Amino acid sequence: MGMEAPVPQDDKQRPNDRTFVFRAPEELDGRPAQKRIATNNMQSRTILITGGAGFIGSHLIRLFVNKYPHYRIVNLDALTYAGNLENLRDVEQATKYSFIKADIRDADVLSQLFAEHNFDSVIHLAAESHVDRSISNPMAFVQTNVIGTVNLLNVAKTAWKGKFEGKRFYHVSTDEVYGSLHDGGFFTEETSYDPKSPYSASKGASDHFVRAYGNTYNLPFVISNCSNNYGSHQFPEKLIPLMIHNLREGKPLPVYGKGENVRDWLWVEDHARAIDVVFHEGKDGETYNIGGHNEWKNIDLIHVLCSVMDKKLGRTAGESAKQITYVTDRAGHDLRYAIDASKIDRELGWKPSITFEDGLEQTVDWYLANDQWLRDVTTGAYREYYDEQYAKR
Ligand code: NAD
Ligand code: DAU
Repeated sequence: MGMEAPVPQDDKQRPNDRTFVFRAPEELDGRPAQKRIATNNMQSRTILITGGAGFIGSHLIRLFVNKYPHYRIVNLDALTYAGNLENLRDVEQATKYSFIKADIRDADVLSQLFAEHNFDSVIHLAAESHVDRSISNPMAFVQTNVIGTVNLLNVAKTAWKGKFEGKRFYHVSTDEVYGSLHDGGFFTEETSYDPKSPYSASKGASDHFVRAYGNTYNLPFVISNCSNNYGSHQFPEKLIPLMIHNLREGKPLPVYGKGENVRDWLWVEDHARAIDVVFHEGKDGETYNIGGHNEWKNIDLIHVLCSVMDKKLGRTAGESAKQITYVTDRAGHDLRYAIDASKIDRELGWKPSITFEDGLEQTVDWYLANDQWLRDVTTGAYREYYDEQYAKR
């Protein structure tokens, strides 16, 4: 691809071998944990997946429906601005898959669904997920991320009536609960919580509630905390799809502050694979950090994206980068996130499978090939959101 290598981070800070290792799927399948999955997944399961019409949820549903066709999978999603059934067109006809439009803030509806479907597992992804929106409207994050999660915990506890054999409540969380790294180092599963935005505070609170239900009522749970995801079907409020969209439209690329904030990027399909491994093989009561070993300063990432877009759109080298515009920083902007994902590698045999260069190129290709998808999600409400966030920035 001829891209520049990722910005070198301080290797001396690295707690273990973070060298990126590409493993072919067959090689991964040979690892012990993967072999165990092959036997663990023979039984039939009835899984409630929340937030399955969103970005990560839709990739997870696709993986599960194709890989475990004998599982009964119910996708519960309120279809907020971020939920989109177009994301699931290719799997919606699968025999054991169904979709229910419902809101996790509604405890009565959740109770009815548990009674009707007899779920043995929950994989909970539904959330308000965008930091900038949490700054403008924190209460929506309390309602969905905290109260919605506690509703689900309560309903699962009540429905399972203390008979927890074969049951599992999996909460999909974020590395943002650990706060911001300023002096090097990495987030491990032992790092103290120090959330800094209303979004991360709400996710931190929901993690605490999940652990409290485990400790107090013995509810069998597992939590994973993941770094920034990128890939197809991501709503264009997040950095990478927003930049791709603006690049195509010839609009400014709004870089917050000096663009020096660092994020660790993981391809969304690798996150879905990690959730699969943790769901089937993770130990009750444990937390697993998931990351891409792939740190980038925002401004460097945007330059790489611009050079990919130059090639894809047949522009002369450097043309797309002229759209870069520095804008007022995000309030309380976390400087750096970086995940130590050695536990999930060591204990469950999971690693990222593709390089950032390949993942980014595939991502750009998907957005360019799915222009209609992008147009459909950037109509009226999106324009209002965009004006509100960026017009006076
Ligand atoms: P997303 O915003 O793309 O999707 C969220 C989904 O939840 C949408 O389909 C939405 O309709 C649904 N939803 C929102 N409120 C709901 C409610 N009250 N009831 C039912 N459904 C509701 O988010 P995402 O990026 O796919 O993130 C999924 C989960 O993963 C979130 O819990 C997020 O905190 C976590 N996470 C995301 C990332 C990331 O980089 N995107 C990284 C780590 C963890
Ligand atoms: O770390 C995991 C988290 O990653 C998830 O829990 C969140 O759900 C997800 O939204 C993401 O949070 P970030 O705030 O890191 O992602 P976002 O794409 O919004 O921003 C990435 C970086 O880019 C961040 O430093 C802010 C910056 N940025 C973002 C936007 C949207 C810009 O400079 N300009 C922009 O227009």
